[in-house]
Amino acid sequence: MYTLQQYRESADYIQNKLGDFHPELLMILGSGLGGLAERMETPIYIPYAQIPHFKASTAIGHKGRFVAGMLGGKRVLMMQGRLHVYEGHSMQEAAYPVRVAKLLGVEKLIVTNAAGGVNLALSGGQLMVIKDYIKFTLDNPLMGPNLEEFGPRFPDMCTVFDPDWRALFARVAQEQGEPVAEGVYFYMTGPMYETPAEIRAIRALGGDAVGMSTVPEAIAANHCGMKILGVSLVTNMAAGVLDAPLSGEEVLAAAAKAGARFERLMTAFVAAI
Ligand code: HPA
Repeated sequence: MYTLQQYRESADYIQNKLGDFHPELLMILGSGLGGLAERMETPIYIPYAQIPHFKASTAIGHKGRFVAGMLGGKRVLMMQGRLHVYEGHSMQEAAYPVRVAKLLGVEKLIVTNAAGGVNLALSGGQLMVIKDYIKFTLDNPLMGPNLEEFGPRFPDMCTVFDPDWRALFARVAQEQGEPVAEGVYFYMTGPMYETPAEIRAIRALGGDAVGMSTVPEAIAANHCGMKILGVSLVTNMAAGVLDAPLSGEEVLAAAAKAGARFERLMTAFVAAI
């Protein structure tokens, strides 16, 4: 369980590295999508390992550092790599950087991920704007003593993902000739992919895409009042949809293939907000 003091010490360390640069937007980049960091102007790199109280990110395809700089005319703090529960972190640990960003003055979050397509109308390579999420796992970033400085004990979760931003993202995507779907993200801890029976259950429960991230960060960000956009890149159809086994290499290859398209679109969105 983290204390407010620990969040403050992390934030102070980062602000010291940033000098008079004050980020307004946090972007968390999913598997294989870290290339967006290469588009940042005047980048400042801060490895997580150097920041007090930060846990290291070990997942493949994740670099494990902040990149602060300008993107689309906005002051952006980017996470090139994130923490996952399957690496052995608690949800509160996975969401830690979001609260640190809040203390740095950040009020907006864009969070992306690679996900498996559960809704049969989706296809590999497609983008899905997250309308809502389902989390049936027990862990939760808000468990433990409530830190009132961040938000209330019992936060409302009716609109975690901002409706105006969802519409704006769809409009910007359409202008770029990129078809985007909208749907519900179903959270699973991983690291194993789902069984075909689990995917049938997730579909029956209303999940459109399934993945192993994003929800811890979205809960913490909503709790502290941030405006949130979530986007999934459907890297594969989920288990049992197609007659083929799933692999992490396949997911990363699909993310890399879509990377440049996604990065262009995300840059245009950031410029438009
Ligand atoms: N399941 C869970 N997480 C994922 C998947 C999947 O099929 N694809 C990419 N991330």
